[in-house]
Order: sequence, then C-alpha cells, then structure tokens
Amino acid sequence: MTKEPRKAAPRKAEKKQKQKVETTGHSWDGIEEYNNPLPRWWLWTFYATIIWGVGYMIAYPAWPLLERATPGILGFSTRSDVAEEIRRFDEMNAPLERKLVEASFEEVLADEELKSFATHAGSAVFQTWCIQCHGSGGQGAKGYPNLLDDDWLWGGDLESIHTTIMHGVRSEADEETHTGDMPAWADVLEPEEIDSVVEYVLQISGQEADTGLAEAGKVVFEDNCTACHGDDGSGDRDLGAPNLTDAIWLYGGDREAVKESVLKGRKGVMPNWNARLSEADIKAVALYVHQLGGGE
Ligand code: HEC
Ligand code: HEC
Repeated sequence: MTKEPRKAAPRKAEKKQKQKVETTGHSWDGIEEYNNPLPRWWLWTFYATIIWGVGYMIAYPAWPLLERATPGILGFSTRSDVAEEIRRFDEMNAPLERKLVEASFEEVLADEELKSFATHAGSAVFQTWCIQCHGSGGQGAKGYPNLLDDDWLWGGDLESIHTTIMHGVRSEADEETHTGDMPAWADVLEPEEIDSVVEYVLQISGQEADTGLAEAGKVVFEDNCTACHGDDGSGDRDLGAPNLTDAIWLYGGDREAVKESVLKGRKGVMPNWNARLSEADIKAVALYVHQLGGGE
C-alpha cells in the first residue's frame, strides 16, 4: 500500500464528522460504515409503490392461474376491448355495407364515398382470403392467374369478376360454378400428333417452332382444340379456355409446359366464396380486383 502524504486540516474535519455520525461498527482497512437513515422522500415513495402494487393486483388481472389470470375487480380485459372496437366499427359500417349490397356497380362507381369504402374493404378481404393463391399484390403464380393484367380466363368486367368470385371455378360445392376442363390428350392422340400440335401452339404464340411439325399440328388443332380455344386459338371465356396466341400463360408457355398441359390436361380450382364471405364483402373484393389494373 502506498502512503498518501497527510494534510493536517482535512484530517481534523474528518475526525469531527466521525464523532457526529453513528457507524455500524463495521470497518474495512480503516474505512468505517456509516449508519445513516434512508432519506424520507425515498422511503415514502417506496411505501407508495407497494400500496399501488397491491391495489393494482386487486383491480386488474394479475396472478397467472392454470387457465387464466386472476380477473381483478374492475373486469378489465383487452379481449373485451377488441370485441367492443369491432362491434363499434361494424355498427359504423353497417349503413355503407347495406348501401353497397343494394347499389348496382354503376351506382357504386358514381358514388365517391361508397367506392372508396368498397375498395378499402375489398383490399382487406383480398389480403385475408385471396393472397395465399393469387399473391399479395394479385400477381399470381403458376396455375393461379395474375389479376393485374387484362388477360382474363372468365371475363374482366365487374359482373364477370363478381360471378367468378361468388361461384368459384370447378368448385364442387357450388352448382353454379364455372365448369369445363382442359382434357388430357395422352390417350386420345398419337405421340406424333401431340408433338406436332405443341409446335403449332408455340408457333401461334409467336415462339420459335419447327415449321414442318407445326403445319401438321395445325390440322390436329383444328380437329381437336378449336371447339374450346377458338378457330384462331384466342380462347373462349365462356369455357375458361385461355388465349394461346399471347405471351401470357397460366401453366407456362415453353415447349415442356405446353406439352404437359396437352398430355395431362388441366383443371385449376378456385373456391366459391358465397359460402364464406358476405354479399358486401364479395362485391367489395370484386370492385377491388377490377380496379387492380386489368378491369374492363
Ligand atoms: C385456393 C386457391 C385460391 C384462392 C384462395 C383464391 N383463388 Fe381465385 N383463382 C384460383 C385459381 C386456381 C383460379 C383459376 C381457375 C382456372 O384455372 O380457371 C382463380 C381464378 C380467379 C379469378 C378469375 C381470373 C380470370 O382470369 O378470369 C378471379 C377474378 C379470382 N380468382 C379472384 C379471387 C378472389 C377475389 C379471391 C379471394 C376472395 C380468390 N380468387 C381466392 C385459386 C384461388
Ligand atoms: C373441352 C375444352 C378444351 C379443349 C377441347 C382443349 N382445351 Fe386446352 N384448355 C381448356 C381449358 C378450360 C384450359 C384452362 C384450364 C385451367 O384453367 O386449369 C385449357 C388450357 C390449355 C393450355 C394451357 C394454357 C396456359 O395458359 O397455360 C394449353 C397449352 C392448351 N389448353 C392446349 C390445348 C390443345 C393443344 C388442345 C387440343 C389438342 C386443347 N387445349 C383442347 C379447354 C380445352
């Protein structure tokens, strides 16, 4: 230990103070422990927090039990708060929802307030029920159509979109659902016929194709495919048969994907929403989809 040079005056003052203040009698290396009382303000604040804590435990949910916490005498619960909020919103929206159900689409579009309400409500419905299949922005994926473009399987005007959402596509639970499959041709056509019709589809969609095969494929197409896809291959919305002459594909447009469509057939299923969503919700989400970009 190093010894500090001692100064006379401070030592004297120190001694004086030592005499006044009570010590606990503990001493380490000559350092003694004072026994000062806690400051009053601190003590009273401490007591106040204890009283507050006890009061809080009595008034509000506090102690966790097996099933739930002690409820507290004020009956506070965030769950009932939420239920109350939802009830309040429903009540606020009820007149607008009624108006939406009763109005025709033209009337909704002409009424700014109603249109804005419907689009917002429709967006919420879409985010909840539709994005699993159609993507968060409605951009779609393989087998799930893009709803942003103006290429429609079943029609892109408001009434058509509404009908599709109401009754779904090939949905067994609804008798009014859209029907009509893309048949599997593996057992119907010869392998050479399949290869040639695939080349023809590539050709009419503007892709590179074997022209010789495509010429033979044209005949196969006319005999087997035009009934649904149209004489020129541009599709038929009454049957949900896609346009094969553009660059937009539901299942992929390269040689392999087209061949798979022809060999195995396709039948995309979209649920009917009339069993799960209210009339107002379906109308709202139809308006929402219509204004995503491709509405007619
Ligand atoms: C389980 C997956 C799934 C869900 C969920 C789903 N869809 Fe679909 N939807 C499909 C499929 C698959 C098709 C294409 C059916 C076909 O091949 O014709 C489709 C087609 C559509 C079409 C027709 C597109 C066109 O080109 O004509 C619309 C409109 C549509 N869906 C809207 C919705 C809306 C709105 C919701 C939410 C309320 C929704 N879908 C939820 C799978 C789904
Ligand atoms: C009975 C009606 C019908 C006939 C006949 C038919 N198709 Fe289809 N085709 C459809 C339907 C409906 C779809 C869409 C299926 C779906 O949405 O799941 C489709 C889808 C397709 C697709 C996928 C398109 C895409 O966007 O991915 C190709 C390729 C195709 N058909 C080619 C043919 C060829 C080639 C023939 C003749 C050999 C043929 N189809 C005959 C109804 C038909």
